[in-house]
Amino acid sequence: MVQLLRLLAFPFDTLAVPKCKSTPYDSNWPSEGEWVALNKSIDGTLVKTIPVASSCWPGNPFNSSVSCEVVKANWPLAAFHSELPESIDYPIYANNSCLPPGAAGYDEKRGCSLGGLPEYVVNATSEQHVATAMKWASQRHIRIAVKGTGHDLNGRSSGAYSISIWTRNFNKIEHNASWSLLNGEKENVLIAGSGNVWGDLYGAAAEQGRVVVGGNDETVGLGGFIQGGGHGPLTSTYGLATHQVLQATVVTTEGRILVANDRQNQDLFWAVRGGGAGQYGVITEYVLKTHPPPELVTVGTLQIAPRTDSGSLSTNATWDAAATLLSSIPDLMDSGLAGVTMLGTGRSAMSLYPSLKEPPSGVVMNQMFFGYNITPAAMALLVDPVITHIRSHSNNSKLAITWAEPAIYRNYTSFSKVISGTSNVAGGGALMSTRLLGRAELSELSQHKLANFLQKALRAQNESDGTLAIVGLQGGPGTARISESRWGSVNPAYRSAYVHFISMGASIDLTRPKEGLAAAADWLEENKEALFREWAPNTGAYINEANPFNSHWKQDIYGVHYEKLLETKKRYDPSESLYILNGVGSDRWDYDLDSGKLCQIL
Ligand SMILES: Cc1cc2nc3c(=O)[nH]c(=O)nc-3n(C[C@H](O)[C@H](O)[C@H](O)COP(=O)(O)OP(=O)(O)OC[C@H]3O[C@@H](n4cnc5c(N)ncnc54)[C@H](O)[C@@H]3O)c2cc1C
Ligand SMILES: *[C@@H]1O[C@H](CO)[C@@H](O)[C@H](O)[C@H]1NC(C)=O
Ligand SMILES: *[C@@H]1O[C@H](CO)[C@@H](O)[C@H](O)[C@H]1NC(C)=O
Ligand SMILES: *[C@@H]1O[C@H](CO)[C@@H](O)[C@H](O)[C@H]1NC(C)=O
Ligand SMILES: *[C@@H]1O[C@H](CO)[C@@H](O)[C@H](O)[C@H]1NC(C)=O
Ligand SMILES: *[C@@H]1O[C@H](CO)[C@@H](O)[C@H](O)[C@H]1NC(C)=O
Ligand SMILES: *[C@@H]1O[C@H](CO)[C@@H](O)[C@H](O)[C@H]1NC(C)=O
Ligand SMILES: *[C@@H]1O[C@H](CO)[C@@H](O)[C@H](O)[C@H]1NC(C)=O
Ligand SMILES: *[C@@H]1O[C@H](CO)[C@@H](O)[C@H](O)[C@H]1NC(C)=O
Ligand SMILES: *[C@@H]1O[C@H](CO)[C@@H](O)[C@H](O)[C@H]1NC(C)=O
Repeated sequence: MVQLLRLLAFPFDTLAVPKCKSTPYDSNWPSEGEWVALNKSIDGTLVKTIPVASSCWPGNPFNSSVSCEVVKANWPLAAFHSELPESIDYPIYANNSCLPPGAAGYDEKRGCSLGGLPEYVVNATSEQHVATAMKWASQRHIRIAVKGTGHDLNGRSSGAYSISIWTRNFNKIEHNASWSLLNGEKENVLIAGSGNVWGDLYGAAAEQGRVVVGGNDETVGLGGFIQGGGHGPLTSTYGLATHQVLQATVVTTEGRILVANDRQNQDLFWAVRGGGAGQYGVITEYVLKTHPPPELVTVGTLQIAPRTDSGSLSTNATWDAAATLLSSIPDLMDSGLAGVTMLGTGRSAMSLYPSLKEPPSGVVMNQMFFGYNITPAAMALLVDPVITHIRSHSNNSKLAITWAEPAIYRNYTSFSKVISGTSNVAGGGALMSTRLLGRAELSELSQHKLANFLQKALRAQNESDGTLAIVGLQGGPGTARISESRWGSVNPAYRSAYVHFISMGASIDLTRPKEGLAAAADWLEENKEALFREWAPNTGAYINEANPFNSHWKQDIYGVHYEKLLETKKRYDPSESLYILNGVGSDRWDYDLDSGKLCQIL
């Protein structure tokens, strides 16, 4: 009776949800026969997880059909993991439980086990597969994970003892030049399955003479990227990827297939546009606005390093130069420039500036500017005063400043291919601390203060290794002009942001995932989060590229939207089957990498 009253009084309360999600060691875990029945009900799309690197271990315990040589050669490639049902880019978040030799964190004594990988994967090709499997799993208190590419920097596309919905095969792409909005306006759209990667969309848009807002790297997927916000080279022109979403098809853990747009399921539509992926439901399809491409793109590169003969005398001059450069960015972006600033210290700086013979004293800068419909001459006119300013502020004889003749790309595709990079990034441990920064944090403080913040932002746990900071010019006019109705649930801090600042520098012991991450998180909290709270107390961080262990994550990631997102989450995932690190309501749960258990703590 008391139980019943409680249930009535707290319809969404935790009482309905058992303390821990099920594991195969629990008596209520489904029998073999039940899994077979599930498989039948979803057209045989259920896959038992086979860690791909099993072939590298004695006896190939999971019978992987991919040879160890192939696994070893491809382990650093994001695209390799993306084509596998279970694999993720940063396996430390799956407990590094089955690595190939040579991989960061490999330990011969570890053996090969599922660790933090799912038990089963649904290789879904229809909404019905997703709906049936999720309803089945949530009724049995089984954790549900969602994987598109597996690129998530914090392993959010995996989870021990889970059933994973793999969206890779939702890969339809259709064009519609006059898709109707609620207000009668017509938009030129691509209707795209969530399993596509940006490279696929860029090609499809180019065929129509259009562009879409995606990321720099073509291998990133639509699924998680869009729901977290999604920034890229066109963000300072057209806003975030999520601002282009006109409709989403969402499957809930209760097995409902919902079309969410301005007309229906508006609360869900709002939440999936910026409120973070993998927590409200599984998106199978997006309707995305396309835009006219720029007719030409100019790419200019400004490099600044200490002169090799100046020794440590140039240290202060480099920090002053970095401060001058960053303080000029809001004005440059208002004038139409986009791009990325890379800052480097110690040995890490040598990757930015290959001509350096030894780790520099101070900081090295590599500033890439993108100008859409801006000629090289016009770009030079914008950048020249900044260079002059740097020369006058910082004793010029101490700095090597290079501004090469900018390159011109006559169409957007050729530009996009060049900046896409090699995606040679997977396989290690990703941990960063990040912040959105606006005029107040870049242009409206003293150069001295800014230089001081930058020095702290580039601090590394191992000083001789040094570190990099990546500053994306991905805000400014593009995000500022988005209407309220298209904004969604993106942290409003993004409205006044000009750049997204990624700071790194923690050293992670990859052989002990749980302890290694905890120690690195402590260092980041003390050295980076504390800095950002002082530098930018009122802004925020971008969920897809943030420190998941930041003690102020609710405020920093979700800002004022947290409570409303939590209510929406409860409405659409009442069994709390979808758990992700930093998800709304995730503070009620503890996911222990050692035991693999996901249990309520509150
Ligand atoms: C090489 C590389 C380059 C990057 N470049 C950029 C960049 O330019 N700009 C930027 O903003 N970010 C960038 N990122 C970060 C990127 O936004 C995140 O890694 C993001 O999580 C990728 O989404 P995904 O769907 O590809 O990855 P996944 O790991 O598959 O998924 C990420 C999250 O989304 C969930 N999810 C995936 N698909 C769905 C779906 N259909 N429905 C519901 N939930 C889903 C997963 O459960 C997980 O929580 C980059 C990352 C990498 C590795
Ligand atoms: C599901 O069924 C298909 C088709 O019969 C089969 O190939 C696959 O191995 C089954 N999956 C599991 C986990 O048994
Ligand atoms: C291992 O997988 C292969 C196919 O890749 C299959 O032919 C073989 O029967 C499997 N062996 C075991 C022991 O499951
Ligand atoms: C995770 O790795 C640790 C070793 O770092 C190990 O003791 C533990 O059993 C692993 N947990 C799982 C679920 O694989
Ligand atoms: C997943 O499904 C697709 C499409 O049906 C199929 O081509 C692919 O082989 C499947 N992959 C796995 C690992 O089952
Ligand atoms: C485009 O979408 C509209 C609805 O918004 C529909 O009426 C029209 O038939 C679609 N056009 C094509 C070519 O599919
Ligand atoms: C560098 O700056 C620091 C702090 O502002 C100052 O104490 C120091 O004297 C400067 N060094 C040089 C060589 O100018
Ligand atoms: C600039 O640096 C050079 C060499 O380090 C030094 O000789 C000169 O006095 C400096 N000039 C100023 C204005 O600080
Ligand atoms: C874009 O430019 C590249 C290189 O100049 C060229 O190969 C390609 O055909 C162009 N594409 C279009 C659509 O014009
Ligand atoms: C710092 O990194 C270097 C390798 O780049 C290594 O040789 C050194 O031992 C590390 N220092 C510490 C304190 O870990």
